[in-house]
Amino acid sequence: MLAHEASGRSITTIEGIAAGGRLTPLQEAFIEADALQCGFCTSGMVLSCQRLLDRNPKPSRPEIREAISGNLCRCGTYNHVFDAVERAAGITKASVDESALFAHSRLPTPDSRLLDDSRVARATLEALEAEEV
Ligand code: FES
Repeated sequence: MLAHEASGRSITTIEGIAAGGRLTPLQEAFIEADALQCGFCTSGMVLSCQRLLDRNPKPSRPEIREAISGNLCRCGTYNHVFDAVERAAGITKASVDESALFAHSRLPTPDSRLLDDSRVARATLEALEAEEV
């Protein structure tokens, strides 16, 4: 929305949703789910998700996706945002067997991909030396 489209209307900012200096359940869920992004994106995601929960207290994943579709970020914590919304909504997520996700795929699991990449060990050692650990 362009700023002039909000002329004469009430605007709630990220600072305006926490009453009495206490975080909302959704903000707490963002922390618990490690759904934090940069200072611009986190605020936008929380506000979009709060608006969703205000209208739909038990949203589905596609509904959450739709709700945040206007928040354009390439940094990639979307799955954590989905988890945070589901936590705040009290939706118990089914546990995911990650091995099942790759069972029918030609892609290697992340572990085997790392184990097969000879650059990983060298890069790890270089990073440790750089940190003087
Ligand atoms: S976290 Fe803000 S641009 Fe991606």
